[in-house]
Amino acid sequence: MREWCLRTRIAAQGRVLPVLRHQPEYRPAAAGKCRRAAAAEARRREQELEAERYVRPGQLSPRREVPGHIALPAYALDKHGRPRERDSARPKDAETIALMRVAGRAAAEILGVLGEAVRPGITTDDLDAIAHEECIKRGGYPSPLGYNGFPKSLCTSVNEVICHGIPDSTVLQDGDIVNCDVTIFLDGFHGDTNATFLVGDVDAESRRLVEVTRECLEHGIAAVRPGGTVRDIGRAIQAHAESNGFGVVRAFVGHGIGRSFHSDPQVYHYDNPSARTLLETGMTFTIEPMITIGDWRHEMWDDGWTAVTVDRSRTAQFEHMLVVTDDGAEILTRA
Ligand code: MF3
Ligand code: CO
Ligand code: CO
Repeated sequence: MREWCLRTRIAAQGRVLPVLRHQPEYRPAAAGKCRRAAAAEARRREQELEAERYVRPGQLSPRREVPGHIALPAYALDKHGRPRERDSARPKDAETIALMRVAGRAAAEILGVLGEAVRPGITTDDLDAIAHEECIKRGGYPSPLGYNGFPKSLCTSVNEVICHGIPDSTVLQDGDIVNCDVTIFLDGFHGDTNATFLVGDVDAESRRLVEVTRECLEHGIAAVRPGGTVRDIGRAIQAHAESNGFGVVRAFVGHGIGRSFHSDPQVYHYDNPSARTLLETGMTFTIEPMITIGDWRHEMWDDGWTAVTVDRSRTAQFEHMLVVTDDGAEILTRA
C-alpha cells in the first residue's frame, strides 16, 4: 500500500519507478498544498530514490532455532560464539578428506538451491530461511549462526557489500547482484562455498564483474600445486582482476578449514610476498576472491559485520573449498 502511494506520486511526474528496497514513510498528500511545499516534497522524494541506490540495514527476524538432534560446533555453545582452538594448516588424512567432501558437497547443493531462489522481490532473510532449513534437512548446522556473534545462518552481500552481509528485510531488486555464502557444519567438518547471483536484468558492467570474479577463482585454483606456495594463488588472481581493470579486496582472505571454520593458512587474493607457506598434498583451504569495479578499500557498517566498498562501487565474490592433490587441487564444494 505504501509502495503504491509512492509509485503513483512519482508516476505522475513521468518517472520510471523502481521497486523500493526499503519502504519509505507514508505521507498522505496534504490537500491544497502550496507550490513550495510541493517542491520540498519532490526534493525529499528525490533523496529517497537516491538512497535506494545503496544498501542499508533492514530489520532482523528473530533468531532461527536449531533442532536438538543437530550436532553443534563448539563455538555455538560459547556466549560470544568464539572458537577455541584452531586446526593446524597440516595436510589432512584420507578419512578426513572424505568427510570434508561430504560437507563440501552439501554446502554446494545448498548454494544451488539458493541460486534457484534468487529473484526480484525476495528478501535476504527469505534466503537465510532457505539456507537454515537446507542445512538442517541434511543433518548439519548452519556454521555462521552464532559464529563470533553473527546472528544469521547465511551471509548475503548485495551490490557494494563486499562480504558478511547480514540477512534482513532487504528486498532484492531487478538489477542487483547478491552473493550467498553458505557454510555447513556436518559430521564434524565445515563445508564453505559462495557465489554471486544476478537478480533479474543486470547491467553489462556488473555482469562483467561477476564473470571476471568467477574466472579469478578459477585462476587461483589453477595456481595450486604441491611444492608451490600460497603466494602463487594471490598472484594469479590479482593479475587477472587488474588486467580487466578491477580491484582486489585485501582485508578478507581465504582460510584453512576442517574441524575449524577458519584456520591457517591465510590465503591472500593479491600478490603478497609474505605468503610463503608451502602447499602440500592434503592441505585443505578456501579461495574466495572479492573483486571490485572501483576502489578495493572497505568500510565497516556499525553492525561490525557488513563490509562495503569505500566508494560504494559494486563488488562480487566466489568461493570454493579445496584439497591440494598430487597434481593440483580437488574442489570439495561441487554439487
Ligand atoms: N563463510 C565466510 C567465509 O567464507 C565466513 C562467514 S563468518 C560469519 O569465510 F560469521 F560471517 F558467518
Ligand atoms: Co570461507
Ligand atoms: Co564462505
